[in-house]
Order: sequence, then structure tokens, then C-alpha cells
Amino acid sequence: MRHPFWRLFVFVLVAVWPLFWLYQAWSFALGPDPGKVLVERLGLGALILLLITLSMTPLQKLSGWPGWMAVRRQLGLWCFAYGVLHLAAYAVFILGLDWSQLGVELRKRPYIIVGAIALLGLLLLALTSNRYSQRRLGKSWKKLHCLVYLILPLVLLHMLWIVRADLQEWTVYAVIGAALLVLRIPALMRRIPRVSGAAQKVQQK
Ligand code: HEM
Repeated sequence: MRHPFWRLFVFVLVAVWPLFWLYQAWSFALGPDPGKVLVERLGLGALILLLITLSMTPLQKLSGWPGWMAVRRQLGLWCFAYGVLHLAAYAVFILGLDWSQLGVELRKRPYIIVGAIALLGLLLLALTSNRYSQRRLGKSWKKLHCLVYLILPLVLLHMLWIVRADLQEWTVYAVIGAALLVLRIPALMRRIPRVSGAAQKVQQK
């Protein structure tokens, strides 16, 4: 396995946040409604991880360092895991595990349907992210994984629906997301200069 310490570092760095937030909730450090704060932090965490995952390929192209690609799959799986924890926190702290309220909730918070579609998309990507699926699906694997470019706008719509009045934070994520999507256009991707390559050329001169 290449880059084992880097992979472990990323694993620990991402795994530690939900545990820290749980500890904060348990020690009354998340304010009067810790459940809601947990739902929000896990949702935001999932979105940030999605953006970080999407930035691995451009970063690898830019720097030439293969370590970015070595953690891409792990980060994608973490994004899904945060999404599942976000759903679990919603079910426990907001729904109170009272499934009879789900119909009322969906009418009150229709953005949940958008979030659920995005999570189903992430589930599909997580299930097929292994080498076996990659081999079996062949060329279709890449097409299937382009689904991520549909999932990102869905998550942004889900968030926009919630934060409607306060657009500042949402705009930051939307601009980063749009830039990452634009960068994936093959003609643009080919134009990304390799900083390390450029640096080598400068050194050779
Ligand atoms: C069945 C799936 C989902 C459900 C039931 C759900 C539910 C919710 C709820 C209830 C909130 C608002 C919490 C509040 O009252 O402030 C929320 C916020 C949010 N969710 Fe989801 N969500 C789902 C899927 C997702 C997924 C897959 C992502 C990201 C990958 C996501 C990202 C977010 C974000 C970024 C917020 C805004 C957090 C903030 O206000 O700072 N959600 N979600």
C-alpha cells in the first residue's frame, strides 16, 4: 500500500470530528439544542468532504503528487459515512425516531427529499467504489461515477433550501463547487499546468 502514513493521517483527521462533536454534545458545549447542531455539523461535514474529494484530481494534476489520489476513495467513503451519520442524527434528534411523523416532516421540510436522493447517489458510489466493481463495470464505471456531478448540485440545493436568508456561507460552497465542476471539463483539465513540472523546468534552466 502506497503512502500508508498519509492515509492514516487523513483517516484519523476525518474520523475524529464526529467523536469530538459527540463529546461536545455530551458535555453540554453545543448550546440549548445539541441535536440540531449535530445534524448541521454532520451535514456540513459531508458537503465539505464531497468538495475535498472532488478537488483531489485537480490537485494531483497541479502538483504531480500521487498522494492526493491515494486518499480520494477514502475521502469519498467518509463523505458517505458523514451523510449516513447526518441522517441518523436527524432521525434520532429531530424526528425522535417517531416514523409516524415522517409524512408531516416531509411536507414541512421538503428539502429532505433532495437530501435523500443525494444520499442514495452517494450510496451507489460507495458500493461501487471498490476494484471489483471497477473491473466488472469497465467503461460504465467512469460514467456511473460522473453521478457525483449531479449529487453536488443536489446537496447545494438541499442546503440552499435551509439557509435561504443567510446566503454568505452557501455562496462560498457553491462557488468552490462550481469551480470544481468546471475544472472537470476535459478540455480545461488538460490545460491545468503541473506546478512541479514547471518548477523542475525552472531548476533545469
Ligand atoms: C435522507 C437524507 C438527509 C436528511 C434527512 C437530511 C436532513 C437535514 C436537515 C433536517 C437539515 C437541517 C437541520 C436544521 O434544522 O438546521 C439538514 C441540513 C443540511 N444537510 Fe442534510 N439531510 C440529508 C442528506 C444530506 C446529505 C447527503 C448531505 C451532504 C452530502 C447533506 C448536507 C446538509 C447540509 C450542508 C445542511 C446545512 C447545514 C447548516 O445549516 O449548516 N444532507 N439536513
